[in-house]
Amino acid sequence: MKIMKNGVAVITGGGSGLGKALAYAAVSRGMKVVLADVHAKALEQTLDELHALGAEAVGEVVDVADAAAVEKLAERAETTFGPANLVFNNAGVASAGLIWESTDKDWDWLLGVNVKGVANGIRAFTPRMLAAASADPDYQGSIINTASLAGVVTGPAMGIYSVSKHAVLALSECLYHDLALVTEQVQTAVLCPSYVATNIGQCYRSRPSRWANSEGLTRSQMATAAISQNNLDNGSLTADAVAEITFKHIEQGQFYIFPTTEMHVLLKHRFDRIVEGDNPDLPYQQFEFLQTRRQRLIEALTD
Ligand SMILES: NC(=O)c1ccc[n+]([C@@H]2O[C@H](COP(=O)([O-])OP(=O)(O)OC[C@H]3O[C@@H](n4cnc5c(N)ncnc54)[C@H](O)[C@@H]3O)[C@@H](O)[C@H]2O)c1
Repeated sequence: MKIMKNGVAVITGGGSGLGKALAYAAVSRGMKVVLADVHAKALEQTLDELHALGAEAVGEVVDVADAAAVEKLAERAETTFGPANLVFNNAGVASAGLIWESTDKDWDWLLGVNVKGVANGIRAFTPRMLAAASADPDYQGSIINTASLAGVVTGPAMGIYSVSKHAVLALSECLYHDLALVTEQVQTAVLCPSYVATNIGQCYRSRPSRWANSEGLTRSQMATAAISQNNLDNGSLTADAVAEITFKHIEQGQFYIFPTTEMHVLLKHRFDRIVEGDNPDLPYQQFEFLQTRRQRLIEALTD
């Protein structure tokens, strides 16, 4: 699709990391932006930075897990700037560790934000975008959901995060099929980054009190958090680079957005095993970070 100067981009999780980088990428293309984030201070700071650049940007403090709040966001976005052209359902949080150690509240938080947050965005914005398409033959829009490499690959101690991102991938593919039944003017895409240095390691800062755990982290959860932070810090692409690649894919109408293809061998390995009837495995010999991750987990659990 053509990215229209003066078009409108709505970005959830726009106060930090990939969402903030997507906001900069949108503004640099002359778009107006509506940012939504549960973290008021991060949101305010990002808006200040964008205004300093002369951008037309507004923000709402929104918890994407709250369907009514996302509906209000869609209403306000349309009232302020008109129909959205790009909707990035990007807000997400992480939690990992041995899958049986995740609490009921961990499941509610991760699935509430990562999965229902995307579903809420789709439900609130798609009908408005379809209405805009019916009213104007020149209108073009796209809904871009942030999944992850963890939405296509599983591994030890990837926990609920991987489950939630698989759901986002499936949700996005379903949306693709459904939109294709009714229009060519509204598209969708799914963003599947590998490790990128952002603030996701501090996502507990936006964990609502209703989903707070009474117990501390388990050994596997502490070990995974430390290992993942290291992986994030050593990610091969910056958030800005991922945002630029994402916009290029949107312009080319590409559904699957993998900012780097260096991990594609993991996808192939997984699907080959499924097709050939083999059990789950990862190519540890080829990826030192996977081998290190596994080894450090074993050490943490047997100390
Ligand atoms: N960083 C990575 O390596 C990586 C890799 C793959 C996928 N992702 C995905 O990218 C997306 C963005 O994450 P990031 O890495 O930029 O992290 P980040 O923590 O820097 O940014 C996420 C933003 O989402 C906001 N947020 C959290 N819960 C929210 C809620 N309930 N409602 C509204 N906003 C909420 C946070 O306050 C934060 O500003 C997430 O979906 C994440 O799962 C990240």
